[in-house]
Amino acid sequence: MRILHVASEAYPYIKTGGLADVVASLPRAQAQLRHDVRVLIPAYRAAVSRLRNAAAIAEVRLPGLPGFVRILTMPPRDGSPTVWLADYAPAFDRDGNPYVDDTGEPWDDNAERFFLLCRVAVAIVHNEDLLDWRPDVVHCHDWQTGMVAPLIADSHDVVKVFTVHNLSYQGIFPRSTFTSLGLKEELWTMDGVEYLDQMSFIKGGIVFSDWITTVSPTYAREIQTSDLGCGLDGLLQHRADNLLGILNGIDYDEWNPATDSHIAFHYSADNLDGKSRNKRACMERWSLKGRADTPLFGFIGRLVEQKGIDLLVAALPGLLSSGYPFVVLGSGDPALERKLKEIARAHPGQIHVRIGYDEQMSHQIEAAADVFVMPSRFEPCGLNQMYSMRYGTVPIVSQTGGLADTVVPATPKNLSVNIATGFVFSEFTADALTKAVDQSVALFRDAQQWRALMQCGMNTDFSWTHSARAYLELYQTPSTSSIPGEKHNTGGG
Ligand code: ADP
Ligand code: GLC
Repeated sequence: MRILHVASEAYPYIKTGGLADVVASLPRAQAQLRHDVRVLIPAYRAAVSRLRNAAAIAEVRLPGLPGFVRILTMPPRDGSPTVWLADYAPAFDRDGNPYVDDTGEPWDDNAERFFLLCRVAVAIVHNEDLLDWRPDVVHCHDWQTGMVAPLIADSHDVVKVFTVHNLSYQGIFPRSTFTSLGLKEELWTMDGVEYLDQMSFIKGGIVFSDWITTVSPTYAREIQTSDLGCGLDGLLQHRADNLLGILNGIDYDEWNPATDSHIAFHYSADNLDGKSRNKRACMERWSLKGRADTPLFGFIGRLVEQKGIDLLVAALPGLLSSGYPFVVLGSGDPALERKLKEIARAHPGQIHVRIGYDEQMSHQIEAAADVFVMPSRFEPCGLNQMYSMRYGTVPIVSQTGGLADTVVPATPKNLSVNIATGFVFSEFTADALTKAVDQSVALFRDAQQWRALMQCGMNTDFSWTHSARAYLELYQTPSTSSIPGEKHNTGGG
């Protein structure tokens, strides 16, 4: 199959979160299964700086757009798909984050920027001559690519798949944006992209794609409820026959403690010595004190409400007073950043807080920590708990979305049959988190049990093997309904 993935980020060109990891590793897994896979992302300044021997291989002219969009690419690494970067300087050639400016506010031309990305994808679908290539499948990821499907609604020879990585980001803009983008008036209905009198990019993907997927089976159910449906639960229920959850995999080459170039000591499930050496070295580097019989706790993530960081902030003073060392890496909400820094100042030697984005340190935390804390309020899939298990770092997670689907709780029964991989708490409170931490400390002191827990996680298969195939099967399965024109309750308009 010829498969085109369209997304706003892909590792290593540009990454703000797990989307980038998935848009790198899923296409690679599909390419390795001998499909012809291409990836289209914006040519942000940071992404272009990562290109080596880049070539502009096409110029896309779009009606109404001054100049043209260049398609940049570089020779793919062995077994990797070709990545195309849509280069249009006014939209993408700027410093900073892909979505927000220095003050943390969304760029004020985000609708225009990502609509442009969608139009380039549409040009690739419609014009075989452009790149001498035309996809059988267009697989779009998240709201930034939501307008691709409506624009190719009449192209019945291409399968349209839309993956929701996070329903809480929807790409909502005023009616005036809809008009200025020059969209057809017939799309302005509740069966189109109108939502509560505004324009919704994500609705475009959900309404007009043949298949909607999300990144774990539990999240696929959760988004059909009013709790986590973010106002789109009615529409998602309506499309339930064409909606399914396919669990993300992780890249086993990029995240492998036996070969990871970011960590000082390599190790594996059969030889764990390197792990304790990483712990000792990193605790020294991060100026952390801690008793030998106490686990080192780690957290990595975007500092946003979703990640339950407020819960961690509430629990931390108590946990630190109990003598549990922590290392925290993240950036995001300035208020949460401030709180973490305050806690670090109040507890020298007990917690190391690094505000910022640091790929290398994220690998080092996974290698050095004993326990990874991920108390998410909701979590479509989550990759860090899987990276953790691969690195023998036992996760503590809240019971939601992909966390519930990937971590087997350390109940006495699961421990006795050796299938436990972590700690799962169901009540979303600082108390419940603290109890889970205490439980992990108690189990850590039983070296044999702990080793079994680590090894069980390390030996679980989180590779893409299964899920990459699930997507390929889905592409070949006829969808049961095509939505536009049918009645459904979006709660909007
Ligand atoms: P999300 O996509 O919601 O942010 P995931 O768990 O799916 O959550 O993926 C997060 C990814 O981003 C992981 O690869 C994680 O290591 C990485 N990451 C998040 N914050 C940072 C940071 N401050 N520094 C380095 N890597 C980070
Ligand atoms: C989103 C979700 C996260 C998921 C990632 C990749 O950012 O928040 O749970 O793992 O996308 O699918």
